[in-house]
Amino acid sequence: MSHLTQRFISLEGGEGVGKSTNLAFIAERLRATGLPVVVTREPGGTPLAEELRELLLTPRQEPVAVMTELLMLFAARAQHWQQVIKPALESGAWVLCDRFVDATYAYQVSARGMSADAVASLEQLVLQGAEPDLTLLLDMPVSEGMQRAKARAAFDRFEQEQLAFFERVRAGYLARAAQAGERIRVIDASGSLAQVKAAVDVELSAYIGRLA
Ligand code: TMP
Repeated sequence: MSHLTQRFISLEGGEGVGKSTNLAFIAERLRATGLPVVVTREPGGTPLAEELRELLLTPRQEPVAVMTELLMLFAARAQHWQQVIKPALESGAWVLCDRFVDATYAYQVSARGMSADAVASLEQLVLQGAEPDLTLLLDMPVSEGMQRAKARAAFDRFEQEQLAFFERVRAGYLARAAQAGERIRVIDASGSLAQVKAAVDVELSAYIGRLA
């Protein structure tokens, strides 16, 4: 259904690539179109899905099976899709989502080794073929992103992973971008904030221009 509205945009990238700053900038840019903008995130985006996010991110002694992680992510996603994203798109708003299904292919498939078929089955079950219309992938060398992420206070369960894990996340994102064609636009996020914003603006303006 997002294909009917063309207004579903997701932002992706590894740790420390500057998603939050750019998310605010993209939201501002979309608001300038005069249409309402719903800014949301995954995992999360509804009270229940935010509770699932807490459960997913909290470091714990008990090892978390990848299947458990995957099903919790999709439980949160089902709630978020039904309660927030789908109705917002139907009402004519833009939806700007900090991470969506591409993150599951990068983190659970590429980095954790879950089968892509299992993810595709859940994706079909939960979203019935819906996907973002435009995905901006902020990309930078893992070591740089991790330097930035380290500046933050405490590490969550994902941030506690090692360098090799994040290398697989990055490779997973780039492989997915290569397969997705026009939908996923890769943005070099290793430059200055001004340079990255300018690159984001070029992609976004081109996209909005094509819709007009
Ligand atoms: P955030 O850092 O963007 O807030 O996302 C929280 C963490 O959740 C991040 O480390 C990536 C992880 N994640 C997955 O592993 N799979 C997913 O499908 C999503 C949406 C997030």
